[in-house]
Amino acid sequence: MNFLFQLGHQPLISTAEIQAVFSSLKLKNIKTLKQNSNQYLLIETNKKLDSAKLIKQLGGTIKIATEIPPLIKGGEGGLLTHLQEYLITNCPTGKIEYSLNDQRLALELKKALKTNGYSVRYIEPKNTATILYNKLVEKKSDLTVINKQIFVTTALQPFEEMAERDYQRPDSDDLSGMLPPKLAKIMINLALSPFYQEGAGLPDMPSRQAGGVAEGAGVIKNKILLDPFCGSGTILNEATLMNFNNLIAADISEKAVVDSEKNFLWLKEKYNLKNIGCQFIISDATQLTKKIKNNSVTLIVTETYLGKPLTGRENKNQLEKQLTELKSLYLKACQEFYKILEPQGVIVIAIPKFKIGNDWLAINWEKDLKKIGFEIMPFRVETQNFASLLYHRPNQHLGREIYRFKKS
Ligand SMILES: C[S@@+](CC[C@H](N)C(=O)[O-])C[C@H]1O[C@@H](n2cnc3c(N)ncnc32)[C@H](O)[C@@H]1O
Repeated sequence: MNFLFQLGHQPLISTAEIQAVFSSLKLKNIKTLKQNSNQYLLIETNKKLDSAKLIKQLGGTIKIATEIPPLIKGGEGGLLTHLQEYLITNCPTGKIEYSLNDQRLALELKKALKTNGYSVRYIEPKNTATILYNKLVEKKSDLTVINKQIFVTTALQPFEEMAERDYQRPDSDDLSGMLPPKLAKIMINLALSPFYQEGAGLPDMPSRQAGGVAEGAGVIKNKILLDPFCGSGTILNEATLMNFNNLIAADISEKAVVDSEKNFLWLKEKYNLKNIGCQFIISDATQLTKKIKNNSVTLIVTETYLGKPLTGRENKNQLEKQLTELKSLYLKACQEFYKILEPQGVIVIAIPKFKIGNDWLAINWEKDLKKIGFEIMPFRVETQNFASLLYHRPNQHLGREIYRFKKS
């Protein structure tokens, strides 16, 4: 069966995330498609996918859709006939309401249905909110046509819930910067995939329902996840919702640790969650072995300290100086991470990359990481491997470069 994933605004990262989540499956076909400003990932698998669970697991996917087999009830003819057949069969009585990504085709379809005597309403899919508020997923009538294949949306990203977690938590630190919850989720998925066994089938989606008791589903059962630069705790909160039950939050700033704890308690109460252990530690990341036992942590997922906030007026020398200082901090911290990680423990880390004009200034640290004893685990995107992935919004001077490596 063919599944279509509409990708978020960082399509490369979204694709890497989907491939990471599916890394234990042998996907027959996987390719990215582009239409207008949207990008999609098309995958073929004979496994049944639970879209509702999957969409909660993924941070970088806007919608999931499944292919409608081309001939319904033995109908013949082109795309328009197939679309009509689908909508009529799907809504045998009452008004047919639908949306379709291709506006020209959508209006042709409306005309054809009206001519055939049906009462019909076309809803222009301006954004996911339009689809949500018109209940088009429940009505099975949000359609995407791409490469002459028709897909019906089966799940939409819970964007309201995610925005609430982003903006309504009690404490935040706008100055140090907060990781978007979507990116936190993506980073956790990227960190988890090395633990999925190839050929083992689809991993047990560790996505928690409100009121759920943390049992640590599947591969993450009882594994410790640490964020050593926790800030206001975005990664911890997303990990909690992904069913981790053993967390450590650390930061050099007392305020950050207090904020993280408040945000964690807010989340626990809001989702009525039980049985989750989170330790809150005030510590410099370069001194962590004083507070955390050696060989005890399985996963480190973190966005590091990104340096002094940029104005955009810094010159190359200033930025290079800042990167040198940051690199030294990160490598000292990584030496500590190496000690507290279990053998084969995995780190997914976001570090800064500065944009200056059309150029990028990056931290080149791969050789240093190898010297410490880490092995870079590249990200798979379609058939290519990337040592790092860049998360960047246009007009921002700062990008986040995401790396994954393990203690080898
Ligand atoms: C970019 S913020 C992390 C934001 C976090 N991901 C969030 O979403 O809230 C970086 C954090 O690193 C902390 N920090 C800076 N230097 C540190 C060090 N040497 N050890 C540990 N934490 C440090 C800062 O206090 C800050 O909270």
